[in-house]
Amino acid sequence: MVERPCHKRETMMDKIVMHARNKPTVLVLTILLAVTGVQCRRRRPNIVFILTDDQGYNDIGYRGSEFPTPNLDALAEAGVKLENYYVQPICSPSRSQLMSGKYQIHTGLQHDVIGTCEPRGLPLGSPTMPDILQEQGYATHAIGKWHLGFFKEEYTPLRRGFDTFFGILPSGSFHYSYKACAKAEVNGSINVYCGYSLRDMDTPYLSGNGTYSTHLYTQKAVQRIQEAADSDKPMFLYLAYTAPHFPLEAPEEYYRDFTNIANFDRKVFAGMMSTVDEGVKNITDALKSYGLWDNTILIYSSDNGGEPSYGGSNWPLRGTKSTLWEGGLKTVGFVNSPLIRPHRRGKISNELMHISDWFPTISAMAGISLKRSLDLDGVNQWPMIRGGKPGRRTELLHNIDIAAPMQGSPLFNDTFDTRIRAALRVGKYKLLTGNPGNGTWYPRTTPAEGFGKSNRWQAFDSNAKNVWLYNVARDPRETTDLSDAMPGKVREMLDRLAMYNATALAPWNPAADPNCDPDQHGGIWEPWL
Ligand SMILES: *[C@@H]1O[C@H](CO)[C@@H](O)[C@H](O)[C@H]1NC(C)=O
Ligand SMILES: *[C@@H]1O[C@H](CO)[C@@H](O)[C@H](O)[C@H]1NC(C)=O
Ligand SMILES: *[C@@H]1O[C@H](CO)[C@@H](O)[C@H](O)[C@H]1NC(C)=O
Ligand SMILES: *[C@@H]1O[C@H](CO)[C@@H](O)[C@H](O)[C@H]1NC(C)=O
Ligand SMILES: *[C@@H]1O[C@H](CO)[C@@H](O)[C@H](O)[C@H]1NC(C)=O
Ligand SMILES: *[C@@H]1O[C@H](CO)[C@@H](O)[C@H](O)[C@H]1NC(C)=O
Repeated sequence: MVERPCHKRETMMDKIVMHARNKPTVLVLTILLAVTGVQCRRRRPNIVFILTDDQGYNDIGYRGSEFPTPNLDALAEAGVKLENYYVQPICSPSRSQLMSGKYQIHTGLQHDVIGTCEPRGLPLGSPTMPDILQEQGYATHAIGKWHLGFFKEEYTPLRRGFDTFFGILPSGSFHYSYKACAKAEVNGSINVYCGYSLRDMDTPYLSGNGTYSTHLYTQKAVQRIQEAADSDKPMFLYLAYTAPHFPLEAPEEYYRDFTNIANFDRKVFAGMMSTVDEGVKNITDALKSYGLWDNTILIYSSDNGGEPSYGGSNWPLRGTKSTLWEGGLKTVGFVNSPLIRPHRRGKISNELMHISDWFPTISAMAGISLKRSLDLDGVNQWPMIRGGKPGRRTELLHNIDIAAPMQGSPLFNDTFDTRIRAALRVGKYKLLTGNPGNGTWYPRTTPAEGFGKSNRWQAFDSNAKNVWLYNVARDPRETTDLSDAMPGKVREMLDRLAMYNATALAPWNPAADPNCDPDQHGGIWEPWL
């Protein structure tokens, strides 16, 4: 579909129509517009979605990080900061919900990240967000990390709604060499497979070797912006940086001045965030210089909480990446756009919002009305972001993971089994069950010697506690467990979990397949089945 912008004359007509509402002239004008064929379609907005990897709640200047992020701060501060915004605690789950608009229990991805050698991915069969945008005439581009499966070609970005792809398919890679390694068990022993991961469309992009990931991905994004300026189509650009995820690597000039940071990992992490901050500036500058900014919506989000043992910080929240505590789930998110109503700009939103909401929200930004049969778990938050309307979400299923190790004994025998790892938010209350992972409160400043790796799973203990209830609106640090004081609320939320559990698909977790081995494919990570 080719679009042309509304000309001034037509925009005047629109205004007359608007002001003349309820008057008979409206009809006359409308007929006139229809007959003369001057009706135009207001050009649909470009949407730029920037996702960072493992940026924690406190890893941004405006929350008080020890390093500055001036460009991100300025964008957030002039836009809408999402301060009650949730993602999933690990990579593929967050990405799966972003792309599908569905909770993990509804895609079978409720357990763990997609291991690089695992023959699984975001299930085929329902359209992804970019599928919808592409079908409606958007040019759709993915840059950076995919991590939604690639064992078969059908699962790769070019078959999931993207016109172009430039980036890596597996869970991560080194930031200069694009080397990625993965494990698979073969006949009882663990083998490690390594290969080169950077691709342009369907072919390895070897000449990227040696260029830092944030620079390379930013450069490609700027190129896409330039192409969009020459095109009739609106653009959806998905830029999934691999910074600041480990391995901790950054060009030295981005971190050497952070003499205030004693811990070296934290310092390099700060440098990685500085490359992102500069990259986002380059992108907004490009949008402005190519004349696209006035009709662009820029969304910024992290994919999960920070990992303190790799330089991240979720202070003052509890827990880390991969746990169901707030530090795993609550992170950075904001939207900036000239299309946000002026009275909303520079505002903080305390409305509950979740990463699964982007599918319907971005569709609404693009003016697309979605079919009910898509059965999304996300809700449209564009009226909230753009116009300050109440948010449409009061409840949020963080996850139910029946494949995770259980903990303790069941509290009741006629509702949700509290041994199962799960978390649910209803209004201001959050219930956690099973084994939510290590709930340490890490200090604000990383000690010089760093932290040990926090345990994702605590050891099974049949006597261990397995139910917690918090009023996270009042107690965002999860310090005061209300489960004994409010048994009625616990019971009510367990019933709700049982209701969700009844709608769950079985977890899809096939064993890693040694045929993933890049040595069988010229040293390259690519589909192997
Ligand atoms: C695993 O063991 C079986 C039986 O010994 C053998 O046939 C097979 O080749 C082995 N697989 C690999 C990947 O080494
Ligand atoms: C990338 O560059 C490094 C350093 O020059 C080299 O050792 C490595 O083999 C290169 N990787 C590939 C896949 O060419
Ligand atoms: C941003 O653009 C400047 C000027 O072109 C360039 O030197 C810098 O490397 C770019 N930064 C990133 C992160 O791409
Ligand atoms: C469930 O627990 C109640 C009391 O807590 C007990 O009377 C009942 O027999 C139990 N039902 C089953 C099926 O175990
Ligand atoms: C949850 O659902 C699974 C099937 O997905 C079922 O096996 C299990 O019994 C259910 N558990 C509870 C506590 O409802
Ligand atoms: C949780 O993590 C902290 C910090 O790394 C560690 O000291 C503690 O032993 C861990 N707790 C459990 C139960 O694993």
